[in-house]
Amino acid sequence: MLYGDAGWEKSWKSFEDSGNIGITHVTNPALFKEIDKALSEQTNATLLDIGAGSNSLALSFLYEKKGRTQLVDTWISVEGSKELIRESKKNIEEHDTDEKISLIPHHVEAANPLPLEDHSIDIALSRHMLMHLSTIDLHAHMKDLRRVLKSNGVYIAAILNPEYEQWKRAQAGEVVLINDQQYEYSFLPKEAPGNHTFIQHFKDRSTLEKIFSESFTIKKITECFPVSDEFKKTHARYYMKDTPMTLVYVLQPLP
Ligand SMILES: C[S@@+](CC[C@H](N)C(=O)[O-])C[C@H]1O[C@@H](n2cnc3c(N)ncnc32)[C@H](O)[C@@H]1O
Repeated sequence: MLYGDAGWEKSWKSFEDSGNIGITHVTNPALFKEIDKALSEQTNATLLDIGAGSNSLALSFLYEKKGRTQLVDTWISVEGSKELIRESKKNIEEHDTDEKISLIPHHVEAANPLPLEDHSIDIALSRHMLMHLSTIDLHAHMKDLRRVLKSNGVYIAAILNPEYEQWKRAQAGEVVLINDQQYEYSFLPKEAPGNHTFIQHFKDRSTLEKIFSESFTIKKITECFPVSDEFKKTHARYYMKDTPMTLVYVLQPLP
């Protein structure tokens, strides 16, 4: 089924319904703006999405606006969870009508560099993924991304603001330790298959930025808030003036 064909909207809606307000109204507006900007500076771009999950970033970005797929040569999605790889494949078959997306099952960790050539990627992306990497893995990941990116490439990383996460979990009565304390939070029980991809290793902003700066120049940081007041009553937590939910980093590889 092609974008805009009869029945497309229904099929799309079922896909969009699996998203959530934080993603669509807080993170995506700033993230999509940066991806559009980076695409306007490239031709036939190769994109790479790390920890792509069910591929909702690729599909919503590429097919939300007509003409975007034409700017993209290939969108490579990397994902470590077997379940999400299955879901991702299904979503690609159903929605990637221009056949732009390819999927690489891969677990990001220090000893496991991406199976990609040096300087082969124009735009790297990750959305709410980096907090899943331990300090050692994050150091190695940034180094590996610097390797795979072209010298004029860019890494656009949307990351949950650690201060927002700390605040949110404190509301639920949890004490969240970060950095040296190596706080780990898992959505799944330790013994559950694939649980490792869901563990979160919180680091504060200055620690994150120090690690980024070993391999990248931080060109821009956007603190993300909802784009309208529509959810002010139902989701007041997204509107806290000094505590944005998401930070979008635009990173340029060091030479
Ligand atoms: C919060 S989800 C975000 C998914 C997707 N980026 C999105 O925004 O819809 C984090 C994703 O990162 C993946 N992930 C976490 N750690 C990973 C690792 N070390 N290697 C590969 N994928 C990983 C998880 O399986 C999950 O799909």
